[in-house]
Amino acid sequence: IGVTALDREGESHELSWEPDQSLMEALRDNGLPVLASCGGTASCATCHVFLDPELVGRLGERSEDELELLEETEYYDEATSRLSCQVAHDAALDGITVRLAPEEE
Ligand code: FES
Repeated sequence: IGVTALDREGESHELSWEPDQSLMEALRDNGLPVLASCGGTASCATCHVFLDPELVGRLGERSEDELELLEETEYYDEATSRLSCQVAHDAALDGITVRLAPEEE
């Protein structure tokens, strides 16, 4: 499926998100600067992204680990923040826009 990613400079990138990838992997493997230092286990927060609030609602509850970590980040926004490593591929997500959160200080 196709995803539009906005990098930290606001530049737009069209990516292909394969079924075996988390959203973090799709971003990283397409060359976006997502460090993912924990390897996708919801423990580093370097894969923090912002999604459309309506979409965040549709994706359902964040796990306790994800929420705890997000709440500790500087740019956490309840309506739009997700850890991209915790967003699984889903054909219904075709065409979404994802924005990388600023890097933590
Ligand atoms: Fe570390 Fe997502 S890759 S929290």
